[in-house]
Amino acid sequence: MTRKLLVTSALPYANGSIHLGHLVEYIQTDIWVRFQKMQGHTVHYVCADDTHGTPIMLRAEKEGITPEALIEKVHAEHSQDFAEFLVQFDNYYSTNSEENRQLSGNIYRALRANGKIATKTIEQYFDPVKNMFLPDRFIKGECPKCHAKDQYGDNCEVCGATYSPTDLINPFSAVSGATPVRKETEHYFFKLSECADFLRDWTRSGTLQAEAANKMSEWVGEAGENKLSDWDISRDAPYFGFEIPDAPGKYFYVWLDAPIGYMASFKNLCSKVGLDFDEYWKQDSSTELYHFIGKDILYFHALFWPATLQYSGHRTPTQVFAHGFLTVNGEKMSKSRGTFITARSYLEHVKNPEYLRYYYAAKLNGSMEDIDLNLEDFVARVNSDLVGKYINIASRTAGFVAKKFDNQLITAQHAVIDDMRAAAQAIAEAYAARDFARALREIMKLTDAANAYVAEAAPWVVAKDETKTAELHTICSNALEMFRLLTIYLKPVLPNIAAAVEAFLNVQPLQWADVGQGLGAQTIQPYNHMVTRLEGKQIEAMVEANKDSLQATTPAKAEAVAKTPAKAEAKADTPAAEEGAYISIDDFTKVDLRIAHIVSAEHVEGAEKLLKLLLDIGEEKPRQVFAGIKSAYDPATLVGRLTVMVANLAPRKMKFGMSEGMVLAASDERGGPYILSPDSGAQAGMRVK
Ligand code: 2FM
Ligand code: ZN
Repeated sequence: MTRKLLVTSALPYANGSIHLGHLVEYIQTDIWVRFQKMQGHTVHYVCADDTHGTPIMLRAEKEGITPEALIEKVHAEHSQDFAEFLVQFDNYYSTNSEENRQLSGNIYRALRANGKIATKTIEQYFDPVKNMFLPDRFIKGECPKCHAKDQYGDNCEVCGATYSPTDLINPFSAVSGATPVRKETEHYFFKLSECADFLRDWTRSGTLQAEAANKMSEWVGEAGENKLSDWDISRDAPYFGFEIPDAPGKYFYVWLDAPIGYMASFKNLCSKVGLDFDEYWKQDSSTELYHFIGKDILYFHALFWPATLQYSGHRTPTQVFAHGFLTVNGEKMSKSRGTFITARSYLEHVKNPEYLRYYYAAKLNGSMEDIDLNLEDFVARVNSDLVGKYINIASRTAGFVAKKFDNQLITAQHAVIDDMRAAAQAIAEAYAARDFARALREIMKLTDAANAYVAEAAPWVVAKDETKTAELHTICSNALEMFRLLTIYLKPVLPNIAAAVEAFLNVQPLQWADVGQGLGAQTIQPYNHMVTRLEGKQIEAMVEANKDSLQATTPAKAEAVAKTPAKAEAKADTPAAEEGAYISIDDFTKVDLRIAHIVSAEHVEGAEKLLKLLLDIGEEKPRQVFAGIKSAYDPATLVGRLTVMVANLAPRKMKFGMSEGMVLAASDERGGPYILSPDSGAQAGMRVK
């Protein structure tokens, strides 16, 4: 029986560009889908833009356009990026669609009919200037624990404390700057607390990776523990989203209608190609449903979503596959390092999407571990594996077939070919288990064997001997059959190269079952080179183009691991990047601030503003720093004091000598400079953070 699979990737927000972090998931899903399609199964791969919520509404307002215009523009960009990375959706839709409005309304009504909806009056912060309730991420203020300024309403990025926005000291609205007031409002809740028994079973029934199942079990708790709280699914106007049926002025929270967007995209596909929607979504469906997601949104997909489906009369997912985050050169993607790389800029500089598809595949093993894109290793690996090993098999033999045999092959036969055929099952199992790294290791072993065969048979030597024409024909035909088999195995990862190979070998689109049927006495096409080497300078140019030392890094924050449900929920409401308005904690911690003991301070001959200080920060010898504080300080009064210096500022050669750091001082039109003094107890060399 053919299996029927419906597969999704998480819906990207419609307020930002696709970057290499996103692509881990889309490439992972696309490879899996292509593999399943090659097996002959019926597979539908759907996705959409996630278009609702406060950040998108405010971003559109800032750009002076309607949210509809913003999401349309982003939809076109996203579609283009995915197409160029060969991510082949069967439908790429939008959550702001009529299908989604209908489905969300119907699901809500079904939940309500099942007694799973409640209302509750809650108190929330309200922006009196913007006349809107503020999501936690749009309220900022001083951390109640460590007193760091400018912290979000749900957690402090300096000390890591979590709290509620009402705990913030001196809160202000990140939208208008106004002081928010507390106001009562009625919210709608999905009674998740009543779904604990169902979720306990569901999360432990093989639907999740072991690591994810453990985490979810912890959140659900054991019977009688009552760990799950009801889920707040409404937001007050103004909100860009769907109004809740029978609740004027109340809108579905973006995370309610986003996963329903999977269904809506599929429904739209059904109407386009004539599929039966209910066959895939009815409670006892025999079809399979798979969601690929990042580990930060497990809470939504492994708790809220199955409960929503279950209690609205639908089937639940067959499996949810979570992956880890992307690091670049071992670190979180960063704008200042130029490693926050957009899909577009990769395409501009590196051009070939299959390099990245290959590299990601080589790193993805089906677990929730983070994967690292090491840029040097990336260049080395694609050149060695793709160009040096795989393509090499064809490029070293195809020329002889054209020149000496009029592009005609003979039936191939060799032990290496037999070994290659025998590996099909193991490679298929690795792909099916999303262990692409293992699949590629197997394939590369076979590629090495094929190269060893060609090297040993040395067709370039045999070709010189007129008496060995038949042998040459055998060698080249064998090598090209090996090349064809490797192409079948690599096709889910390298669909464009596979298409070029199909044209070259004059064969129909390769399926997995074609492993069993050899090329035979086939006429092929002249060989054209299929992949070029990747040059290190392309990578350098890409990194340079992505470097932006001044830009805020808010999008990078979306890559951070959400360790708690509270954080996972918060993520959806993170304000869009305010270019230049904030720095991330990563940017801040790059500055190495130290307590410095002023060992000596003296005037500098010929300098109007500077004092020369020797500062002990616990190093072997004190640092010499020229500080522009002469107007405010008598050097003698400074000696022996503790202050704060920047210890990792690049040394600067000044007219009077090297300055090896910077002393911090406050000033404005009211006076200064005033240097800083730590509280008693601080010691020279202590880090200030
Ligand atoms: O985390 C995100 O980027 C969300 N836009 C994912 C939504 S997936 C699904 F539930 F719609
Ligand atoms: Zn704090």
